[in-house]
Formats: sequence, C-alpha cells, structure tokens
Amino acid sequence: MYARLICTSLLSLVALLCRPTDGRPFQAPLPRDVSGWETAAGSSNLVADPYPRLPLLSFDEKGKFKLAVFSDTHMLDGQTNPANVSNVNAATAAEVASYLRAESPNYVFHNGDVVSGEAANGTSVVEAAVKQLFTPLIKAKIPFSTTHGNHDNDNYCTHASLGDIERRIAPNLSYTRRAPAGVGGGDVGSDNYWVPIYSRSNAKRGSRPALLIWSLDSRSGKTLKEQGALQLHFRNTQIDSFVDPSVAIWLNRTSSDLQRAWGTLPPSLIFTHIPNHYFSSTQNADPYQDKIGGITDERPGNFPGNDSSPKTFSGLNEDKPLANQGDAGQDQPYLTALSRGSTGTSRIHALVSGHDHGNDWCAPSGLTTIKGEIVPICFAKKTGDGGYDYDNWNHGTRIFDFDLRTVEQSVNAYIRLKTGEKRYETRLDDTWSRKL
Ligand SMILES: *[C@@H]1O[C@H](CO)[C@@H](O)[C@H](O)[C@H]1NC(C)=O
Ligand SMILES: *[C@@H]1O[C@H](CO)[C@@H](O)[C@H](O)[C@H]1NC(C)=O
Ligand SMILES: *[C@@H]1O[C@H](CO)[C@@H](O)[C@H](O)[C@H]1NC(C)=O
Ligand SMILES: *[C@@H]1O[C@H](CO)[C@@H](O)[C@H](O)[C@H]1NC(C)=O
Ligand SMILES: *[C@@H]1O[C@H](CO)[C@@H](O)[C@H](O)[C@H]1NC(C)=O
Repeated sequence: MYARLICTSLLSLVALLCRPTDGRPFQAPLPRDVSGWETAAGSSNLVADPYPRLPLLSFDEKGKFKLAVFSDTHMLDGQTNPANVSNVNAATAAEVASYLRAESPNYVFHNGDVVSGEAANGTSVVEAAVKQLFTPLIKAKIPFSTTHGNHDNDNYCTHASLGDIERRIAPNLSYTRRAPAGVGGGDVGSDNYWVPIYSRSNAKRGSRPALLIWSLDSRSGKTLKEQGALQLHFRNTQIDSFVDPSVAIWLNRTSSDLQRAWGTLPPSLIFTHIPNHYFSSTQNADPYQDKIGGITDERPGNFPGNDSSPKTFSGLNEDKPLANQGDAGQDQPYLTALSRGSTGTSRIHALVSGHDHGNDWCAPSGLTTIKGEIVPICFAKKTGDGGYDYDNWNHGTRIFDFDLRTVEQSVNAYIRLKTGEKRYETRLDDTWSRKL
C-alpha cells in the first residue's frame, strides 16, 4: 500500500524503477468517473479531464474547430520602433484583434516569445504587456493557451511566471498549465501539457476527445543571477535550447495511459517554440533544398495545389540556416516518443514552431510515425511589431481549420496576413506529404 503511494508520487525517472518485475508498468485501476484527476509525473493515474474547473472545449455545432496561432509577438521589444515602445505594443494588440475579427477562431494558441523579457524593467511591466496582448481574446471570450520561448525566460519572467499571469488575467480562458513536477526542467520549461478538444459541447468529460493539442516546452533563454535592468549584461546563464529529455518519458507514459483509457488516441497537433532539427534537414536536404520558397520563390507556381510545380513549397524562407533546438539532435528523445509511442499510432497533423521570424512554410519532415505516416512540419507566422522584422515579411496568423468528418486524416491550413490576404492554403494529409 505504502509502496504504491510512494511509487505513484515519485518523479517519472524514479517511477520507472517501480515497475513490477514482469515488466508491465504499475497501473492503478481506472475509476468510473475520471474527471478532476490531477497529473503527476510518474503517476500511472490517468488524467482524462485535466480542466475540471474550465469550460469543456469542443468542435462547434457544424462540426468545425478553427485554431489561430499567434507567434513571436515580443511585447516590450521596440527594435522596429525604438522611439515608442508603447506604439509597438498597441499596434501588436490591434493586430491580434484584427485577426480575431477576420477569422473568429474557436481557440488561440500562442507559440512563444510572448514578450521580450530583456526589455523589461519590472514584473508589473511584464504583466501589463501580457494583459495588453491578450485583452482582445478576453473581450471576445476566446479560450487560449501558450508555449513560451527563449525571450520569455529573461528579465522578470520565466515560462512558469508568464503562465501564472495568464491564469490571473484570464482565469476562465487560459488553458496553459504547468508540467507535473520533475517534467520539463522547472520554471524555465514548464509548458508541457495537452488540451482535449471534444467532438461536441455535451460530450462527457474524460471521454475520448476528437483532437489533442500538445504544448512541448523548448526552454532556452537566460537565468538571471539577480533580477533587474542593471544586470542586463551580466545575466548569461544560458538555458538549454531543447525540450528536456524528461518530457519524452512523460509523453510515453501519458499517451499510453490515454490510449489505454480511450482505446485509440485522438489525432494530435503539436506546438513547440523552437523548431526541431527536422526543420533544418528539410530546409537543407534534397529534394527540398532551395525549393521551400523564400521571397524570391513566391511565384504563383510555388503555391500548393498547383500541380505544375509539385516539388516546390510556398512560404517565406528567409531565416536560412534556421535556428533549431540544440546542436546535435538533443531533441530526438521527445521526437522519438511522439512518433514511436502511442501518439504516433494516430494522425500527427503537424509539429508547429515559431522562433525564426523570417520563415512561414509547411513541409514534410524526415520523421515517420508508427502508423507509417510522414509528419508535417509547419512554421507559424510572426505576429505583431515586436522583435526582429522586415516589412516585406508581412505579419499574420497561421490557421488550422478542422472538420470533425476529416479530423482523423487531415486539416486545412493557411496563413491570414495582416494585409488581409489568405495565403498558402494547404490540406495537410498523408497524400500531401508523399506527393511532395
Ligand atoms: C507613443 O505612442 C503612444 C500610444 O500610441 C502615443 O500616445 C504617444 O503620443 C507616442 N509618443 C511619441 C513620443 O511618439
Ligand atoms: C519601467 O519603464 C517604464 C516605461 O519606460 C517607466 O514608466 C517605469 O517607471 C519603469 N519602472 C522602473 C521600476 O524603473
Ligand atoms: C469565471 O467563471 C466563474 C464560474 O462561472 C465565475 O463565477 C467568474 O466570475 C468568472 N470569472 C471571470 C473573471 O470571468
Ligand atoms: C501554376 O503554375 C504555373 C507555372 O508557374 C502558372 O503559370 C500558373 O498560373 C499557376 N496556377 C495557379 C492556379 O496558381
Ligand atoms: C518512448 O517510447 C518509444 C516507443 O516504445 C521508445 O522507442 C522510446 O525509447 C521511449 N522513450 C523513452 C524516453 O522512454
């Protein structure tokens, strides 16, 4: 009895040692009503409803679920308009509001670098900036969640503290939650969680959702020796720029627990701020090299759906070589867990990243799931005026538009630009990945 309790409360790594000798993972019996269970690392307790206090998220009555991705807003960062940072913040918030009007999404996912912490001079300044950015969502009552980036671990902020701010300013709308203790690397890597999207609004909590949204935290940024603007040049304790290996163990356990509970795992859409190394290999290796767009390649023939140039990809490809996680495949453990573990038994619609503001393409990756499907990789689109930026890159939001009838196989993806233009519309499915 005590051994069980200890086993279920220890960290994932240790919990592996608590397996019975026949090799089966220790497993607590499932209760009839699983709503309200809390996640714990290494616990074999299933968490079928991680949001007992928040509204259930679902496809609408027409069977549609539209998700808008905002990315790299870099609030407080006036490098494009140093004379007036408040203008930059206000313009970014106005841009966010314009995308909500244009697209009416059911959910928003922010893909990281919400703020530029290095430009902050106090915690209240950070909180005000986060509030300004998310106010259009709060006004429109749109649920959202976040994975944070390298600039979100800096002066007066960590990934965990920014999640706390979200829950304070939008207690009924923020679905961002902290990774269980021992998973992800602490406050600078806390954004490891999944969000269930049910098929209908009256679905039973804890039953099999139609779609899972995963946030996986790529950490990075700096830990401060001391907090404060004066420490700006003395704060260089760098944090590893890749998803912590503990996340791989958690992914395997969580996804196999969920598969056991639901029979089959729902399809997934996966967000990580810094792109994984497959983005680099796609950008650099044949047959994709120099064929995945870029400003000079934004010709009509390079847009998806145009069979006259099936081997070219649309999309801005200005950050080349792009910056990816780690420098030697340190991101492989979580990618293996995703593709070879239970998540890979269902459709992985895309691995979505930001970080490289000059890129906005989707392409097939070198990663194949246990189901034998090639995993698509997608850049988000840089949103708002903060951070490095060039006029001709434009700004925007990447949209994933799901339909309940096709959610097991495909999703319609496109970018809505600040100029209003809708571009790169693509149906991401396995046929698309193989044709290219
Ligand atoms: C800075 O922007 C704010 C908000 O738009 C505006 O009220 C203010 O006049 C601007 N200040 C300067 C110096 O341009
Ligand atoms: C931080 O910067 C803002 C805007 O420049 C300023 O109003 C505020 O007084 C500063 N706060 C501190 C603690 O220095
Ligand atoms: C959140 O929802 C609860 C329960 O419906 C309600 O009592 C509370 O006022 C809401 N809070 C906000 C900030 O909207
Ligand atoms: C397809 O590509 C060809 C060759 O670049 C171009 O002439 C044509 O206009 C494109 N069609 C569409 C629908 O974009
Ligand atoms: C996760 O599971 C996959 C599939 O069984 C396995 O290949 C991988 O090594 C596991 N990763 C970890 C960190 O346990």
